[in-house]
Amino acid sequence: MFKKITKFPDNFLWGGATAANQIEGAYLADGKGLTTIDLMPTGPKRNQVSMGNLDSFGPEEGEFYPSHEAINFYHRYKEDIALFAEMGFKSFRMSVSWARIFPNGDDLEPNEAGLKFYDDVFDELLKYDIEPVVTICHFDLPVSLAKNYGGWKNRKMVSLFERYAKILFDRYKNKVKYWMTFNEINMLLHLPYTGAGIVFEEGEDKQQVLYQAAHHELVASALAVKACHEMIPDAMIGCMLAAGNAYPYSSNPEDYWEVMKMERDSYFLIDVQSKGEYPGYAKRFFIENGIELQLEPEDLELLRKHTVDYIGFSYYSSRCTSADPEILKNFTDGNVFGSVINPYLETSEWGWTIDPKGMRITCNQLYDRYNKPLFIVENGLGAQDILLVNNTVEDDYRIDYLDRHFAEIAEAIQDGIDIMGYTSWGPIDLVSNGTGEMKKRYGYIYVDRNNDGSGTLRRIKKKSFHWYKEVIAKNGAQYFQK
Ligand code: BG6
Repeated sequence: MFKKITKFPDNFLWGGATAANQIEGAYLADGKGLTTIDLMPTGPKRNQVSMGNLDSFGPEEGEFYPSHEAINFYHRYKEDIALFAEMGFKSFRMSVSWARIFPNGDDLEPNEAGLKFYDDVFDELLKYDIEPVVTICHFDLPVSLAKNYGGWKNRKMVSLFERYAKILFDRYKNKVKYWMTFNEINMLLHLPYTGAGIVFEEGEDKQQVLYQAAHHELVASALAVKACHEMIPDAMIGCMLAAGNAYPYSSNPEDYWEVMKMERDSYFLIDVQSKGEYPGYAKRFFIENGIELQLEPEDLELLRKHTVDYIGFSYYSSRCTSADPEILKNFTDGNVFGSVINPYLETSEWGWTIDPKGMRITCNQLYDRYNKPLFIVENGLGAQDILLVNNTVEDDYRIDYLDRHFAEIAEAIQDGIDIMGYTSWGPIDLVSNGTGEMKKRYGYIYVDRNNDGSGTLRRIKKKSFHWYKEVIAKNGAQYFQK
């Protein structure tokens, strides 16, 4: 009666994922304005700026800003896309830099040269039958929106974002069928400047500011979904969550309750984007913490009516938590959200927990919760690679990480989950968002560039390049042969 699922879907969107500020470089080319990330230095200040504790509105002498050149995708995109095509990519996730289109964010007219750049990139992808998957905002705002408007603190951002999104839909309606509004929308609550261009003022009620900004992004996202559905009826538009299931440190119910709180802290925003209303636990949290959202009369109706078509998410690690303050001291880093060290799991060189099974658990949790197609739009291992004299990189550790995650994705597919595709993070080495380093590499393609900006930018295929090419060629059939 029921049929066993024996393969990845035929149209599974294998590919890779990037963000404009981490690959493009050419930071002032052809009329582009400065973005928030263009003024984010490397070193210890980076974290303070990301958290909104220190402003960074102008380049400072002696600081290094890695996005200025990044890997110069802006001038080398043809070579890079040819390499993606050689691996057999079916999709390529990228973001548009808002400041290429509206250099100051509130300009009256869009910048034609910026629009033309993305036309050229999309055409190049489509030439190889690679579907562009486009994030409208992946962390980088035109810096003048942060400086002059206070970023997403300000309601005015909603209409500026809507206008920007509509320009993209209108221009690229025949080229782009997969969209996402905000990258890792829940990041706003943890890295307010990265996620929302917020710098806190002295004495400001941080929670009030954050949740009001989150509300603005949610309304803006709903308006973009509305416009996308009206302007490109055959497109899909999704949300994007920094995901990762959590485990209780022990079987103590108090530990399990901490897990629920931790997961809800992540889910809360996409609960709204996907289900169309603030969940009860969020309303209770607002009331008990004295948070009063300023709503426009139409807001709740907009949120209700314009929900997303799919759930995009990143998965790098699972987390672990406890109600015991002593256990909580035993922390390791993660993709911004730290975790209690899980004694059953290893960690990466950057302290991120490695948990392939967590990928299957996360897929199941998200599908149970939303019942919408999932798109795994980020996953991968950041590691230091060694370029060998014969011009290759033996990145067996990366192959091992991906291989174990793909096996769990195949399990999730057999669990009956509708997964649209998988784009691994940084298919070509790029600038790390967290640290600004180049040496934290995720790619199948090595880029000759160092932390200090030195290097030739030459592209070199790693061992994983050939391995991923084989996985795609077989549409992951090896994960179903047991
Ligand atoms: C995600 C972001 O949080 O993680 C990416 O969407 C980021 O922009 C990726 O690069 C990996 O994090 P990091 O800090 O290793 O670059």
